[in-house]
Amino acid sequence: MSDEVMNSARIELLSPRLANQIAAGEVVERPASVIKELLENSLDSGAKRIDVDVEQAGVKLLRVRDDGSGISSDDLPLALARHATSKIRDLEDLERVMSLGFRGEALASISSVARLTLTSRTRGAEQAWQVETEGRDMAPRVQPAAHPVGTSVEVRDLFFNTPARRKFLKTEKTEFDHLQEVIKRLALARFDVAFNLRHNGKSILNLHEARDATARARRVAAVCGPAFLEQALPIEVERNGLHLWGWVGLPTFSRSQADLQYFYVNGRAVRDKLVAHAVRQAYRDVLFNGRHPTFVLFFEVDPSVVDVNVHPTKHEVRFRDGRMVHDFLYGTLHRALGDVRPEDQLAAPAPVPGAERPTGIDAGE
Ligand SMILES: Nc1ncnc2c1ncn2[C@@H]1O[C@H](COP(=O)(O)OP(=O)(O)O)[C@@H](O)[C@H]1O
Ligand SMILES: [Mg+2]
Repeated sequence: MSDEVMNSARIELLSPRLANQIAAGEVVERPASVIKELLENSLDSGAKRIDVDVEQAGVKLLRVRDDGSGISSDDLPLALARHATSKIRDLEDLERVMSLGFRGEALASISSVARLTLTSRTRGAEQAWQVETEGRDMAPRVQPAAHPVGTSVEVRDLFFNTPARRKFLKTEKTEFDHLQEVIKRLALARFDVAFNLRHNGKSILNLHEARDATARARRVAAVCGPAFLEQALPIEVERNGLHLWGWVGLPTFSRSQADLQYFYVNGRAVRDKLVAHAVRQAYRDVLFNGRHPTFVLFFEVDPSVVDVNVHPTKHEVRFRDGRMVHDFLYGTLHRALGDVRPEDQLAAPAPVPGAERPTGIDAGE
């Protein structure tokens, strides 16, 4: 900036697009962050089936279609406006928010750095409507469209107008791995929702709604690879209102990276220090140094004893009685792992009923 500009600079309001682009700098890092926002919106809308279609890892095209509640035509322009949300109205709502989103920034941010089209139809509406935004003011343009009840968001040419951001994108494979990981993490949290993922025209994940234990196991095998399920112990313990269930990988199925670790507290994915410590302690005696355990675990507690909104992006939680939770997790896992006899570890893996083809994860390395 020249001195002259410095001296004469006047204060002006940022255009809506620029303000949104600045906000996008924080939430829209890569295709995986876009898919996370779109999937969370679909889940918040009560969708039972979500189809994701991606080209070039989502940089060229990212389309999410759901069968959720839809958005009425009056609300469509607002959906793309910043600080516009249907999920909270006042401070009290904020304190007990149950939805995955509530900041009302995602769609505005994404549509400021890509070509976004939102198409939606509510139950009972005569037809669907579509909205896009134009120009520096991001003026919404609404027009009639064809679409079943639910919502489709199409995001094309991510970062086409912010080349500096585009440069930070990694290879197609890396970006796609990140994107797939987001879907897997949510798919394990929501067995009641069907998820489909296609990449460059090829079906990658095809997860049906999983109603019973067999179907849930099948989904875990599809997401984590069949080898994980074959070499994992099912767990289910309930005590004093604390309920832990899921699968813990046998020590023989450890990994060199902590990349097959899924822990959910009341349905939310969590990466928490207290939890991590309890798990590490439980594996301490059975795992070589530098190896990482594998697990898919669901922890359910009375919502009043845990705060899951402490840090929405860091996925931390706060338990009212951390000590008790830690000891319960440690004790349960330690006991389960201690029960493993050597022959269990060497036994021929039992085939998983209906296990689907292996996924990107090269289980066990
Ligand atoms: N897939 C969807 N189905 C129904 N409504 C949606 C969907 N995606 C977005 N919306 C509506 O658009 C609003 C804005 O979405 P977003 O920018 O992600 O903000 P937030 O999720 O924080 O409210 C949401 O509050 C919701 O009302
Ligand atoms: Mg949202």
